[in-house]
Amino acid sequence: MITNVNNNRHDSVLNKIGNTPLIKLHSLSNDNIKFFAKLENHNPYGSVKDRAAYWMITDAEKKGLLKKNYSIIIEPTSGNTGIALAGIAKHLGYGIEIVIPEKASTETKKIIKSLGAKIYETTDDLCPKVGSGTDQSIALATSIASSRPQIYYSPNQYSNEANFFGHYTGTGPEIWKQINGQITHFFTGVGTGGTITGVSTFLKEKNPKIKIIAVQPQLNHLIQGLRNFEESSKPELFIKREQVVDDWITITNDEAFREVKTILNNDHMLVSPSSATVYAAMKKYKFEHTPKNCIVGIFADDGRKFKSIYVNQNVLTPNEFDSALLQSKHMPKITYN
Ligand SMILES: Cc1ncc(COP(=O)(O)O)c(C=O)c1O
Repeated sequence: MITNVNNNRHDSVLNKIGNTPLIKLHSLSNDNIKFFAKLENHNPYGSVKDRAAYWMITDAEKKGLLKKNYSIIIEPTSGNTGIALAGIAKHLGYGIEIVIPEKASTETKKIIKSLGAKIYETTDDLCPKVGSGTDQSIALATSIASSRPQIYYSPNQYSNEANFFGHYTGTGPEIWKQINGQITHFFTGVGTGGTITGVSTFLKEKNPKIKIIAVQPQLNHLIQGLRNFEESSKPELFIKREQVVDDWITITNDEAFREVKTILNNDHMLVSPSSATVYAAMKKYKFEHTPKNCIVGIFADDGRKFKSIYVNQNVLTPNEFDSALLQSKHMPKITYN
């Protein structure tokens, strides 16, 4: 049973979670079809995962599972959940330990450490696999937590219903209102499945005709935060409501990285690899010809944590990255400490 989490703390940072902007993508839109991006980098710790982290912590507090200045939150994550949990835990007076694949960007790990979290690195794939015996991150977090259950609490975003509810009561209604109910297609990547199941369940209750397209990266991908379900088993949270998905589209690393520059040149934003993946999917998808198509995609975070990946993959030179960072629109200031 999920307690009703109300984002009404009299608190300057946590009060700013959610209500992110929806902007028109001029590079894709024309008279017949309009494309929009929901810019989740406007959350205080920089990504869509602020919502899940905040909901899971508040839900645990209401259930009496956390004690201030005593409890330690431990979680396996490929990045953004770690940043969000670390920021919020620090703010609320909880300890924080994060288990993260070593392939996550160096910038991501640095941010998590700067927020005061202890880090355990594993040799896992970028997105921890969920499945018995296959995943070191989840196994390690579980074993540390179970060694001292009175101190440790693991939210387990892969099965925690509060993750779903953060999107069902927040992201979904925000999109519906921002687009005046005109949305015809929704695109997002899948990590735990919280975003896609939460937003889509809400949207389909409003209008069952809205098409939900799940975006997955290629096998052996470089897209932090997303999963390919041929190489990674489906999280429990996703399986519970996976019938909301109408269609799947797979995007290669090259297709995604190519769009980083397109979006930079045409929409003047420095986006993350996963946002470029969603953009590439919206561009590649074969829409039925109707005059009313109105497409919304989730841009889960922005590009600032990915200089090392963009430079290594020859997406941008170091100088191009630095000037993109300075000139990019929609790059709110984030203080990570
Ligand atoms: C970087 C990143 N994190 C998280 C998510 C969504 O994750 P979840 O399925 O856990 O809600 C996405 C989805 O687009 C993403 O790109």
